[in-house]
Amino acid sequence: MKKFFSAADVDNLKDVVEEALMLKSAPYDFESLGKHKTLGLVFLNPSLRTRLSTQKAALNLGMNVMVMNMDKDGWALETQDGVVMNGTTVEHIREAAAVMGEYCDILGLRSFPSLKDKEADYNEDLFNKFINFCGVPVVSLESATRHPLQSLTDLITITENKNVDRPKVVLAWAPHVKALPQAVPNSFAEWMCKAQEQGLVDFTIAHPMGYELSEEFTNGAYVTDNLEEALREADFVYVKNWSSYTEYGQVYSVAQNWMMDNEKLKLTNDAKVMHCLPVRRDLELSSEILDGPNSLVIKEASNRVWAAQVVLKRMLEKL
Ligand code: CP
Repeated sequence: MKKFFSAADVDNLKDVVEEALMLKSAPYDFESLGKHKTLGLVFLNPSLRTRLSTQKAALNLGMNVMVMNMDKDGWALETQDGVVMNGTTVEHIREAAAVMGEYCDILGLRSFPSLKDKEADYNEDLFNKFINFCGVPVVSLESATRHPLQSLTDLITITENKNVDRPKVVLAWAPHVKALPQAVPNSFAEWMCKAQEQGLVDFTIAHPMGYELSEEFTNGAYVTDNLEEALREADFVYVKNWSSYTEYGQVYSVAQNWMMDNEKLKLTNDAKVMHCLPVRRDLELSSEILDGPNSLVIKEASNRVWAAQVVLKRMLEKL
């Protein structure tokens, strides 16, 4: 594996989940694989889970890890070509990425979208430049349009916790006070549509009108603006807010209450409730669910290690 950026970078989902669960049962079986290899984690935005779980995964494989908080500790980065750098930016991504590639065998990058320039965000301009200039394999730690380590984690968590062969999985939009990226729901939809194609789940998306995701990610899903209809017989409910894709980055007020709570849970097949975290309590998801027996959010966050470890293992095996 030379790059981990989307569901397209993994062929057989069942195989990668099984391999991740094998690593979960024996975390140190490949502790020599990463000896004398260095992982560089580059953050342009904040992170708790991605930062710590990916470091832990690398350490389990015997790698050295370096973390660079570009947003706080790096030189102000220029990402556009052809500009005279006589403003506030100090270093061009061409040199910055190439230098980091000299120090590291594998690099990870987190970069959020602007939510202003839809074309640049959805072309993944920054991420693609980083891949092109660094010259080593790259793991996405979340990009403008996707969060593949989170989605692989989510598939692992669903597989571990399902009671039926082919569970009904619902991605349910939730309220928020800020305009959030579409990366997590895009990515979850992309991975669940692929899992549906491979016979692993049945997948539904519920959101208010105006919050349609790009069809590039939702092809094959059943999409509705009726939350109650979506929740019926659901085995897993994945709660997440996102801003509008069509009116890019906009937030609309919605008529009905979309927060997931115990009343809505009654409509489901005693569904397990998931969220990528961080979560705004009693805004996106009720405290009663988060603190109750149906919540998988902590197990889900814990599984971030095994998603990262299987990806790094596959990359190390190809170095
Ligand atoms: N879910 C997730 O990516 O968490 P962080 O933003 O804290 O890494």
